[in-house]
Amino acid sequence: MCGFFKTGTNKDGCSSFATSLNQKRTIAVTTKEEIPRVRIVMLPKDTNGLGNIFGGVILSHVDLAAGEHARRVAPLRYVTKVMREVEFIAPVKVGDTVSFYTETVKIGRTSITVKVLVTSERGIGVLEAIKVTEAQVVMVAIDENGNPIAIKDHIT
Ligand SMILES: CC(C)(COP(=O)(O)OP(=O)(O)OC[C@H]1O[C@@H](n2cnc3c(N)ncnc32)[C@H](O)[C@@H]1OP(=O)(O)O)[C@@H](O)C(=O)NCCC(=O)NCCS
Repeated sequence: MCGFFKTGTNKDGCSSFATSLNQKRTIAVTTKEEIPRVRIVMLPKDTNGLGNIFGGVILSHVDLAAGEHARRVAPLRYVTKVMREVEFIAPVKVGDTVSFYTETVKIGRTSITVKVLVTSERGIGVLEAIKVTEAQVVMVAIDENGNPIAIKDHIT
């Protein structure tokens, strides 16, 4: 079972993020693939009426992470066209360190589909990272007039 794990370990043979976004995963910060696109500590201002972190806050960071990922793939201007398959798997709490890992699902003519995996680390000393959210985001490259443009020639 790879759902709960200690930071920096690779428990139970879970494979690396780059090849296993569909699986639950370990966090290892030593390889390039394991560096999150966004990492942030959740504050009281981000809470909902239940005291958990508001889903919209998580989504906004999912959006930012996907946009940043797309820009690394091809440095263009992007807008978010679709957010789909968003699943909130477990609640995020105040003080959690939340990491947003990204992976390219598909590069189309004008769009890049990005998978975003969100983990939350809780505790002091030995941290546990829990997979809390997963989503796919379609980012569309646009020109200065807001019209979709081809990505192909801009891929780094
Ligand atoms: C993004 C926008 C410019 C696209 O215009 P459009 O007329 O839909 O353009 P297209 O039909 O050519 O689609 C553009 C790309 O999106 C993809 N796309 C469109 N709808 C899609 C959907 N429902 N699911 C998956 N991909 C979709 C298309 O396949 C195409 O990608 P491809 O060229 O790689 O195949 C326009 O819809 C827009 O400005 N939307 C608002 C964006 C926005 O403000 N986002 C929120 C804040 S950033």
